Formats: sequence, C-alpha cells, structure tokens
Amino acid sequence: MKKYKLIGPITQLISMENSGISGALKDEELPIINNAGILIEDENIFAIGDYLDLKEKAISLHAEIIELLGDHIAVPGFIDAHTHICFSGTRARDYAMRNAGKSYLEIANAGGGIWDTVMQTRKAEKEELCHNVHKRANALLKNGITTIEVKSGYGLSVDEELKMLRAIQDANALTEADLIATCLAGHMLPRDFEGDQKTYLDHISNTLFPILQEENLTNRIDAFIEQSAFQPSDIYPYFEKAKAMGFDITVHADQFSTGGSEVAVQMNAISADHLEASTDHEINILAKSDVIAVALPGASLGLGCDFTPARKILDAGGALAIASDWNPGSAPMGDLLTQASILGTFEKLSNAEILAGITYRAAAALNLKDRGRLAPTQLADFNLFQTDHYNEIFYQQGKLVPSQVWKKGSIVYSRS
Ligand code: NIG
Ligand code: FE
Repeated sequence: MKKYKLIGPITQLISMENSGISGALKDEELPIINNAGILIEDENIFAIGDYLDLKEKAISLHAEIIELLGDHIAVPGFIDAHTHICFSGTRARDYAMRNAGKSYLEIANAGGGIWDTVMQTRKAEKEELCHNVHKRANALLKNGITTIEVKSGYGLSVDEELKMLRAIQDANALTEADLIATCLAGHMLPRDFEGDQKTYLDHISNTLFPILQEENLTNRIDAFIEQSAFQPSDIYPYFEKAKAMGFDITVHADQFSTGGSEVAVQMNAISADHLEASTDHEINILAKSDVIAVALPGASLGLGCDFTPARKILDAGGALAIASDWNPGSAPMGDLLTQASILGTFEKLSNAEILAGITYRAAAALNLKDRGRLAPTQLADFNLFQTDHYNEIFYQQGKLVPSQVWKKGSIVYSRS
C-alpha cells in the first residue's frame, strides 16, 4: 500500500521546477509558491501546490498530515557533486607551510601534498575509511546535503583503490544520504609505480575497470589533468577506454593551468570541475557544450587562489554547479552552504544561480535526473528552513541551517 504524507503550510516553496539547466538566472525568475504544501507518495513527490488545495487531496488519500508552525522555507535537498571525503589523516602541516609562503614543490619535497594523504590512507583499514566517510557524510547531511559524490584517488593501486571504493559502498549503506562514488585512480602517478603515466593508466583501465563493474562500485571515472598529474595525451586513451566500457567521465580541469576543459568537451564528459585557470577560450567551449562546469570555492579558500569565473561561465551560457571539493589538502573546510554563499559574493551570483548550483544543476553534474527539483516524481529530498524569506539562506553564509532535512520522504534530521 502506498503511504502519503502532506507537509505544510510552507511560507515559500522554491521548487526550481522548469528552471533552465544553463545560463544566467534572475531571482525574479525563481518559481516560488507561497503558503505551499508538499504531498509525498512513499519516497517521491506526488504533488506540490497551494497547501489548502493539497489538504483536500491529502484527506482523500488518507495521508498523514504534518502541520508546520511558524514560517518555513522549502528548497530541494542540496547536492555536493565533488568531494574527496574518503581519506585518513590530516594535512594541517601543508596548510601552515603554504600560508608561510612555501611553494607546491617545497611542500611536496617536505613530504606533503596528495602523496602524503595516499600514504596515510593506505595505512587505514577499510572499516576505518568507512567510518570516516560515514561521519563526514552525516555532517553534510545535517546541513541539508542529501546527495554526496565521493571520490577515491588516495589509493593509487588496484587493491588500494578497491579498498577506498568498497569503503564508500559500505558507508552508503550506513548513511541516509546517497553517496555517488567516483574512481579517481587518475589523481597522480603513484611514486611507487614502476613505469610512466601511460603504463600506469593502462594497468588501471585493464585491471581495475572490469572489477568496478563486476562489484558495481562506480560508473564514474575521473582524472586530474594538470602539469603535476596527467597530460591530455595520457588521458584521451584512458577516457576512451572508460567510455567504451560505459562509464561516465568527469574531469579535474584547469585548476592551475589549462588543457583539462578541452579534454572534457572533446570526450563529452558529464562535468569539468575546478576551472580556476580557465580563460575566455575555455569558458566559451564549455558554454557551447553540454558539460556542466563545477566551481569549487572551497579549494580557492583553502589555497588562497582565484575563484572559478562563475559569472563569466553563466553569462556565456554555461551550466554552473557548485561543490565543496572537501579534501584534506586544498579544501579542508567542507562546508558547502558557506562556500556557495561566498562564491556568490565574490562572483556576483544571484541567489537563484547559487541555489541552482547546489540543486538541479549539481544533479546534472552527476547525471542524475531524479532529484534537484521539487516536482512530481522527483525524490522527496528537501530542506525546511525556519525563516520567512529564501534570501536569508545565502545571506547568513552557512549560519542558517535547515530545521528539518527530508530524504526520500522521511525526516532524517531535525532541530527543535
Ligand atoms: O580537487 N586537484 C586535485 N585534487 C584535489 C586535491 C587533493 C589533495 O590535495 O589531497 C582537489 O583539489
Ligand atoms: Fe577535487
């Protein structure tokens, strides 16, 4: 038997229904329903609309009616489309060295950088990694992030990448958030691999990719295209192989130097992430493509670098998602709402553009069509904020957190 629930009345419900996937968005264009209700059928949205109209329908369906007192704003559950929360240890020393003026090379030579986290993560058992992912995912969930992408990439061998991806799979069974795993074995050439970039990537695609599919660990392949990691010429054959096997492609692109977004466009990647170094050329080719551009303000804040040119990307007609990049090195904060608000301040984004960037445009960056908007048939993933205007959410730069987080039709977190 189907189970129905009605939640309301909601002062303002921002559905994002029918908002465009790409280009600039004005706050005046936001689809807002005042005095609204959300009618849920099992895990999905059955209807949204005027609360009193829906109440009649709810009574006829014998729905449970959950009446809210005082002002509430409803928005779709947030989606963090880029994280590295599967890791062990800390990189606090890197942070201190960077702030003291040390270069990337000096930090790496002192034993820091990505390789340091690889060493610390390899020492951890799968159970410890699963615990870490679970704990971090729940911290995000409390802030309304109901879908979280999680990358591997600190294992950098077949066995260690599998350990990470199995830990993510185990954590997904424990947390109420949905975890979307991505294989980032192409994060850097492991220092202990005897061979060059091409030999390493061939080894990964020949040996690891089939196991990812056998164990249903992920359908997404990522790589870091950068002078310190992999060149486009290394990555084309790697991504060709992944695509031929049916994987979706996503790219760490243009973080410090350009080249990655060109690969993303050529390969029809689902998303190109970072883009802090993108010039007008990269912005234009991305905007003409179906690739979702993902800004990672947490990495700019962690490294003290420029922000992704989000305004230019939107004005050129691109699709912009915003994610936290939570990782122990470049983005230790992991607070998506704060970071998205700050990106909005520096890049002059409308609240509509920020909200789109962490809801349906972020869903598109993960190739997910069943979430990101409050509309019939979408998953009933949404947040309620105790305030009378949606402007408060980003204005408060992360201090205003949801009073209720709903995931697949149930309350998974509530603050009284
Ligand atoms: O997305 N750019 C490459 N990878 C991560 C950083 C990983 C790390 O420093 O541990 C990023 O910023
Ligand atoms: Fe990243």
